[in-house]
Amino acid sequence: MQIILKNLKRYYGDLHAVDDVSLNIPSNTIYGIIGKSGAGKSSLVRLISMLEKPDAGEIYYDDKRIDTLDIKDVIQERRKIGMIFQNFNLFSSRNAEQNIAYPMEICGMDKEHIKKRCAELLEVVGLAGRGDAPISTLSGGQKQRVAIARALACEPEILFCDEATSALDPQTTRAILALIKEIQKKMSLTVVMITHQMEVVRDSCSRVAVLESGQVVEEGKVTDIFANPQSEVTKDFLSNVKISKKDIIRWSKEGGQYRLGFRGGKTDDVVISKVTRDTGAMFNIRAAGIQDVDGEKIGVMIVDIDSEHAEAAIEALIKGGVSVEEIK
Ligand SMILES: Nc1ncnc2c1ncn2[C@@H]1O[C@H](COP(=O)(O)OP(=O)(O)O)[C@@H](O)[C@H]1O
Ligand SMILES: [Mg+2]
Repeated sequence: MQIILKNLKRYYGDLHAVDDVSLNIPSNTIYGIIGKSGAGKSSLVRLISMLEKPDAGEIYYDDKRIDTLDIKDVIQERRKIGMIFQNFNLFSSRNAEQNIAYPMEICGMDKEHIKKRCAELLEVVGLAGRGDAPISTLSGGQKQRVAIARALACEPEILFCDEATSALDPQTTRAILALIKEIQKKMSLTVVMITHQMEVVRDSCSRVAVLESGQVVEEGKVTDIFANPQSEVTKDFLSNVKISKKDIIRWSKEGGQYRLGFRGGKTDDVVISKVTRDTGAMFNIRAAGIQDVDGEKIGVMIVDIDSEHAEAAIEALIKGGVSVEEIK
């Protein structure tokens, strides 16, 4: 299911929480929306998922306009949606299976069918045989697995994940993202991944929109944005991305003012040597490695450049197709 947003606005008093957002979220993909706390991500998701109405603008699921539907049709249309959240939103009084069964009970499915479907879903999320586990006995990762199973119960076409991994440690985050990716493929879902972590975007999304103060400041393929970020916010997010220790080797603890990104053919070119020759700049290479972004390898190098030649060197690097970010 494709989602199209046209000039969406949502105001809370004088606050423009969503301020003229237009996006095209392609079907059958994982689409990231990244922004800092307060950027308007959750407000935007509440509009796209029909929990709230926009003050202005239009929302389409495929060709169907959905922001003007009346309540009866909204309920119908919302069956196409699954949602998961940072705090899991599970019923603590119900066990895992009863949580997963809940939306199916609401839909009025018969008991036998619910039972069978719960077993299937527990298997899909890697919790086969754990249906009778009380929620309080499950780890964060397991709770999110139950929440994912529940979100998938009524066979949605869209899955919204609002900071779904923000309460989890990095290892569990990777496992949950791997599960979401697997499910996305298997069920041809359109997944909207809301996050404040660039690592989540890198490890799961194909495209991303960067949100700041309710507005989209950058949008595109994740590989393009990693290799060549445009907005200050995006650069800031990227300068904070933790590259896993196994992917980067640092031989100098101190320093490293710039992060260079090399992609595709540029990794075979002698860019640095050429820049040194042409500008006279001196590089001190502090760390280097490879980052995997949406299946594409991007070379990363953390360097210092002598201040006298830094400006000319950066210009030459960018001309040579290398992305340059200042690390703050
Ligand atoms: N129901 C609400 N009433 C008033 N202000 C709100 C409401 N929801 C969100 N906001 C404000 O809108 C802005 C965006 O919030 P939110 O969408 O939750 O951002 P994010 O999810 O990116 O952290 C914030 O300034 C927040 O305080
Ligand atoms: Mg939020």
